[in-house]
Amino acid sequence: MWPDMRFLDLFGIDLPIVQAPMAGSSGAELAIAVSEAGGLGSLPCAMLGPEQVRAELGIVRQRTSRPVNLNFFCHAEPTPDPEREAGWRKRLTPYYEEFGIDPVTIPTGAGRLPVDEAACAVVEDMRPEVVSFHFGLPPASLLDRVKASGAKVISSATTVEEARWLAARGCDAVIAQGYEAGGHRGMFLTQEMGRQVGTFPLVPQVVDAVDVPVIAAGGIADGRGIAAAFALGAAAVQIGTAYLRSPESLAGLAHRRALTSARDDSTVLTNVFTGRPARGFVNRFVREVGPISRAAPEFPLATAAVAPIRGAADADSGEFLPLWSGQAAALAPDLPAGELTRKLAAEATERLDRLSKTGEAKA
Ligand SMILES: Cc1cc2nc3c(=O)[nH]c(=O)nc-3n(C[C@H](O)[C@H](O)[C@H](O)COP(=O)(O)O)c2cc1C
Repeated sequence: MWPDMRFLDLFGIDLPIVQAPMAGSSGAELAIAVSEAGGLGSLPCAMLGPEQVRAELGIVRQRTSRPVNLNFFCHAEPTPDPEREAGWRKRLTPYYEEFGIDPVTIPTGAGRLPVDEAACAVVEDMRPEVVSFHFGLPPASLLDRVKASGAKVISSATTVEEARWLAARGCDAVIAQGYEAGGHRGMFLTQEMGRQVGTFPLVPQVVDAVDVPVIAAGGIADGRGIAAAFALGAAAVQIGTAYLRSPESLAGLAHRRALTSARDDSTVLTNVFTGRPARGFVNRFVREVGPISRAAPEFPLATAAVAPIRGAADADSGEFLPLWSGQAAALAPDLPAGELTRKLAAEATERLDRLSKTGEAKA
């Protein structure tokens, strides 16, 4: 039994562990393994077209009948700024020269897609049990359609204000994403990175501010972290980094190597890959161009000019790849995802039991 059963009851799952959707680093296999183990598997769709979403979800549906979460980005598409784009390409010129890339051949473009009509139609057709968003919520016309499909809706908040905003617009649960989290910061009402909040202070303040269940995310990678999240009032956790080492993740060689040798201070927030702050391992590109570059165009427009460098550089070295990771990577064991999910839940319940028995003995 868990101290707060609201998330489990509302979402129809056995274990209060949401596998974080990780665009580019996870797909159907990871989602299936976690959902089958009793958690909530997630399918990231930010880098997939509608037909790919349909195909991936089709695979999940064939292999598990348990609930699944489809995840979309919902950033406002920025207006391209030719001057800024030119400045960014100028900043990257030494790399174009080093890798023999002709900058004239590099197309501009987005690289990450916000949820749209076509994606919404797939949701209506295939009816995932849960739809999660990153960077706020889509326009009401799309959100209403997603809700009308029967899906429970969740999204990430990085401040109390964002949590209130999401709850007021009908989210069934709110993810409190602390500063420790791997990948993109879900921030959408603020740009002030220096004021972003850590998981420990964020979770209880969000719990106090909203009535819906709170899912703690960021730097949780073992049973102790899950027990701590529940002690702070969370009703579930969302875990990304700890699943990256599992055989079911799509993390490449360099990413896995960095995860294996990770320390507490191996990661940094950087905007040099996409234009938005995201937490990942420090490598040559991050060190030399960032970690934060004012030249980078607005998210996701910075992506296009970096793509050919990523393609031309040695992928196994990982020096020019985004290697997203949270601060707790070193705590994560190398286990298949289903086994990891069960182990995390068992460790957390054991710790919570111990804590409550100590409390009873003292009382
Ligand atoms: C490799 C990676 C990719 C991510 N991609 C996404 C994504 O596509 N959508 C999303 O909502 N969150 C994404 N996130 C953020 C997670 O949802 C979550 O906030 C984070 O993993 C929690 O922190 P942790 O990594 O310390 O467990 C990503 C995180 C990582 C590590």
